[in-house]
Amino acid sequence: MSEIPAVLFVCLGNICRSPLAEAAFRAAAKREGLEVHVESAGLGHWHLGYPPDPRAQAVARRNGIEIGGRKARLVTPDDFDRFNHIIGLDAENLAGLRRLAPPDARAEVSLLLDHVPGREGQSVTDPYYEEDSAFDDAWRDACEGADALVARLKAEASVR
Ligand code: 4NP
Repeated sequence: MSEIPAVLFVCLGNICRSPLAEAAFRAAAKREGLEVHVESAGLGHWHLGYPPDPRAQAVARRNGIEIGGRKARLVTPDDFDRFNHIIGLDAENLAGLRRLAPPDARAEVSLLLDHVPGREGQSVTDPYYEEDSAFDDAWRDACEGADALVARLKAEASVR
């Protein structure tokens, strides 16, 4: 792992929430002048190789970010060595990551909203079977988690 923090966001399909978290985190890090490596991945195989859901692309675009160029991929055991942080979007994702983590995993595994004071233990709701407004809610949660995580990583970088 490099000195530049590497962060992997993980949801079920890698077509809705984790691409939004990836985009929100990249934007927040850029705004704060923090150099990061960021990717996202999924635990389920249904949408491998597909771009984000059109509703996720739309909410990102409404917020000034294009995410249509990326393709869904699975989390792999290697990711636990390549990334400093592997961050599940909901409690089920977190449980799946803990099952997948090799015993000598170097990555810190956490839940996105654990990084937001007062929201510890909360999940970002799966918007896939919901109305469009659920994607706005997911975007808002992704931004809140991303901002908090950038603040933490910036503070850590300043004491190294
Ligand atoms: P995501 O949303 O985990 O936020 O990407 C989902 C996408 C697809 C499915 C479930 C959740 N699915 O069941 O196909």
